[in-house]
Amino acid sequence: MKKTIILGVCGGVAAYKAVELARILIKNNFIVRVVMTKAAMKFITPLTFQAVTNNPVLTDQEFWNNQSGNGMDHINLSRDADLILIAPASANFIAKLNSGICDDLLTNICAARSCDLIVCPAMNSFMYHNPPNLKNIDSLKNNGVFFIGPELGIQACGENGMGRLSEPISIFNEIEKYFSQPLLKNLKILISAGATIEKIDDARAITNFSSGKMGVSIANEAFQLGADVTLVKGITHQGINPGIRIIEARNHDDMETVIYQEAKKNNIFISVAAISDYKAKQIFHGKIKKDKKLLTLELEKTNDILKNTKKKFPNLFCVGFAAESNDLIHYAKQKLIEKNLDMVIANELNNTMDHDDAEVIILDKSQEKILPRMPKIKLANNILLEIQESYQKNEN
Ligand SMILES: Cc1cc2nc3c(=O)[nH]c(=O)nc-3n(C[C@H](O)[C@H](O)[C@H](O)COP(=O)(O)O)c2cc1C
Repeated sequence: MKKTIILGVCGGVAAYKAVELARILIKNNFIVRVVMTKAAMKFITPLTFQAVTNNPVLTDQEFWNNQSGNGMDHINLSRDADLILIAPASANFIAKLNSGICDDLLTNICAARSCDLIVCPAMNSFMYHNPPNLKNIDSLKNNGVFFIGPELGIQACGENGMGRLSEPISIFNEIEKYFSQPLLKNLKILISAGATIEKIDDARAITNFSSGKMGVSIANEAFQLGADVTLVKGITHQGINPGIRIIEARNHDDMETVIYQEAKKNNIFISVAAISDYKAKQIFHGKIKKDKKLLTLELEKTNDILKNTKKKFPNLFCVGFAAESNDLIHYAKQKLIEKNLDMVIANELNNTMDHDDAEVIILDKSQEKILPRMPKIKLANNILLEIQESYQKNEN
């Protein structure tokens, strides 16, 4: 079946490159529906795109004067699309996208979409590095929007820097990859992420510094790679792809209940959450008075959820994370054997927790492998490739 791509074109010098992109997509059997912003039409005419795509081009003119059907092209078009691709995306459009502004056809289509959105920025390098622009891009990425480029190089304005539109052929290669058979298709993956919080009394609690960045990155990436993902979500403020099933579990006991309940429905369990090892032996109802100079809290050890999950469900491929402050490999090996895990991902506590990037060592029964420091989003992809490979070996 042919895939339909909405190609959104914004106002920038690189708009002419979108014609070549449309041509490559058509040549490779995609249906392309071009939507142009008002500014885009200052750079290139709709007729060129119409000729290349063999489809009428939609602009604001059609948005407000639509004579056909229910007159709601912004909804109809996005319902029919398999992907929305914005190339080139202006700084202005990226800002509107991030703040939810819907003041023309293209912004409305993006807001009403039920498919993925890929944005290819193109702008002067100073405009690109403008802090609000970088913030917008970051925030969109956290909300599941994909980006291709921009690239470094000589720009139309004469600058040499970051902001060039990726070459049409490179954009096409990424689109082809996007539509190819996903690596984790048919796999059900259970992932826990974030910190837990254990009550001491009605006002106070014990928690930890886990941000959930690693766990949520793995969940988002697993979903992108085609897995059916259930996320057991502790405390985290990271953006989660809307296609992921989320079950909230804020403390150890809730995590334990949910994980045992969900484990049997999955092929793989990746335990990334920083689950409290201790909890208050008794939760004080009300608020403990601050009248003592020294207050002793009695804490009891919590159950080892990961170890027990593997014991209860021996066929489940279980992956644990080990954040250690010393003797990393020694403790990771110990964890692998003691808990009978299929894989352990070890990282150095102080260089990982709440950081945007990390270096990890992957251990399974047959190997030890270092993945050098890289952003957690990229690391998530690399980790999942290792898990998939090891899982397949186990299955065969
Ligand atoms: C000659 C010229 C070139 C421009 N090139 C770019 C560009 O490459 N990238 C960009 O973000 N804005 C560029 N702009 C500014 C945008 O066209 C402007 O922000 C416009 O409002 C974008 O509208 P749109 O986002 O609806 O397409 C350019 C403007 C002019 C006059």
